[in-house]
Amino acid sequence: MPRNLTLRRSPIHGNGVFAARHLPSGTRLIEYRGKRRSHDEVDDCYGGDYDSGHTFLFTLNEEYVVDANVQGNIARWINTSCDPNCEAVIVEDPKGRRDRDRIFIETIKPIRAGEELTYDYGITLDEPHTPRLRKIWACRCGKSNCTGTMLRPKRPRKKK
Ligand SMILES: C[S@@+](CC[C@H](N)C(=O)[O-])C[C@H]1O[C@@H](n2cnc3c(N)ncnc32)[C@H](O)[C@@H]1O
Ligand SMILES: [Zn+2]
Repeated sequence: MPRNLTLRRSPIHGNGVFAARHLPSGTRLIEYRGKRRSHDEVDDCYGGDYDSGHTFLFTLNEEYVVDANVQGNIARWINTSCDPNCEAVIVEDPKGRRDRDRIFIETIKPIRAGEELTYDYGITLDEPHTPRLRKIWACRCGKSNCTGTMLRPKRPRKKK
């Protein structure tokens, strides 16, 4: 584990990752690691679990998902927030190999020692975001601007 991070119970949910020391804005903290799997593969493997509201999956690109259930590191314990102090940055492989794209967690504001790290998961589901699903994916970040759900509005479709 990087020495500037620590893992412990979170007031938001389960385990969380916290700053072990002051972290300046713009610091690349850790890679979000996990096995590269196709979207179809993860749907086959976890499709039935989407109603649990719990996931260690991160969409890498149109072809691949990073499955942190397998070969994941402590980045998988970082919770989401409606007022995050980090962001997930996708770095594309210079040779265009989509399975070699990578995800890094970087600070977007100065973070005090002891503060929990968060980034916006930006989850959108294929199906309509019904009140039932918004509840299953309820957000408990505790921020004053909390939307109450981890689901984010889907991008408007282009008009034909
Ligand atoms: C990648 S895990 C993060 C680690 C998680 N705290 C744990 O102990 O398993 C992602 C899951 O954590 C929970 N989670 C993360 N941020 C949350 C939030 N702001 N409100 C409620 N649950 C959250 C959700 O169940 C989410 O699917
Ligand atoms: Zn929230």
